[in-house]
Amino acid sequence: MKAIVITEKGGPEVLQARELAQPVPTGNEVLIRVAAAGVNRSDVLSRSSIAYGKLVNDEIPGLEISGTVEALGPEVKRWKIGDQVCALIAGGGYATYKTIDERLCLPIPVGITLLEAAALPETVFTVWDNVFKTSRFKAGENFLIHGGTSGIGVMAIQMILAMGGHVYTTAGTPEKCKFCKDLGATLAVNYKEEDFVSILKPIGIDVILDMTGGENTQKNLEVLKPNGRLAFINAMNGVKSEIDILLLMANRLQITGSMLKPQNNDFKAGLAWEIESLIWPLIGKGEIKPVIYKVFPLEQAADAHRLMESSTHIGKIILEV
Ligand SMILES: NC(=O)c1ccc[n+]([C@@H]2O[C@H](COP(=O)([O-])OP(=O)(O)OC[C@H]3O[C@@H](n4cnc5c(N)ncnc54)[C@H](OP(=O)(O)O)[C@@H]3O)[C@@H](O)[C@H]2O)c1
Repeated sequence: MKAIVITEKGGPEVLQARELAQPVPTGNEVLIRVAAAGVNRSDVLSRSSIAYGKLVNDEIPGLEISGTVEALGPEVKRWKIGDQVCALIAGGGYATYKTIDERLCLPIPVGITLLEAAALPETVFTVWDNVFKTSRFKAGENFLIHGGTSGIGVMAIQMILAMGGHVYTTAGTPEKCKFCKDLGATLAVNYKEEDFVSILKPIGIDVILDMTGGENTQKNLEVLKPNGRLAFINAMNGVKSEIDILLLMANRLQITGSMLKPQNNDFKAGLAWEIESLIWPLIGKGEIKPVIYKVFPLEQAADAHRLMESSTHIGKIILEV
C-alpha cells in the first residue's frame, strides 16, 4: 500500500511517500480502504516536536479516516465488506489501507459524503469527551473555546449550539471572529487586539475548552463563574502556568485535561457508542456540519501541513486518498 511517513522530526519535508506491506485484519479488526484522512494539529506536532513523543521508525500520521470496509477479522460482528465508515484511529491514517478495531468505526452520517466524514471523528470525540462528559456541560450554560476556527473550535461551536448552550470564542483575526459569529457564537474576541478577560469576566463562563495554556490559564480562571470547569486539550502557548489557587478554591473551580490518542480502545469504544447515539442524529439533521477548508491529494501531505502551520485555515484540512 501507499503511505506517507514521518521519516524524522522536522519540517513538512520529512513527510515522504513509502510503499509498505498492506495490513491484515485480525480478531475484531476491519481493513478499511481509505478514501480520506483528516489532518490534525497533533499530526503536525508529532512530526515537528520531540515533546509530543519519540518517532517509532517510519511512523504514519493520521488520527481519523473514512473509507470502505474491504476485509474482516474472524471476530467482526457489526460490519460487512463494502460498508462505508469513518473511524477514530491512533495513527496510520495517511495511507491507502488501515486496520482498526471495529468498535471505533461509525457509519457515515445521513447527508454527509465519504470525504466529509473524514473530518468528523477526532473533533467530535474530543469535544464530547472533554466538554460533555468530563466538564458536564448543560443546556443554557456559557461555553468558551479558544481558537474558535480550529478544526476543534468549529466542531465545538456547533455541538454546544446544538445542545442549547451559548458560545463565546477567541480567534486571531477579524475574519476568523466573523466566521465564529456567523456560525452562531454570541461573541468572538480577537485576542490579538482585545483582552478577553475584561470582555468575558462580566458575562461569566461555565466551561472552557482550552488548547493554549501558558498565560491564558490564570486568565481562564478569572472568567469562570463559580463551579466553572476548565478542560485542557493542549498548551500551545506553554505547558507551565502560574495560577491563583485561592481563586480556584473560592469559586470551587475544576481543572481537567485529556489526550485522546493514547487512550485504550475500550475507552474510545464507549465514546463511539455515545457519539453515534447522541451526536450522529444531530449531524443527520444538519445541525452539525463538517467545515472543510481545503482538500489535498495524499501525496501533498507536506503542503497540507504547511497550510496548517500557517494557521490561515478555518475548519478542517483533508487528504483525499
Ligand atoms: N488532547 C486531545 O485529545 C486533543 C485532540 C484533538 C486536538 N487537540 C488539540 O486541539 C488543538 C486544535 O487542534 P486542531 O487540529 O483543530 O488545530 P488547528 O485547526 O490547526 O487549529 C489551531 C488554531 O489554534 C490557534 N492558536 C492559538 N494559539 C496558538 C499557538 N500558540 N500556536 C498555533 N495555533 C494557535 C490558531 O488560530 P488563531 O489564528 O485564532 O490563533 C490555529 O489556527 C491543537 O492544539 C490540538 O493539539 C487535542
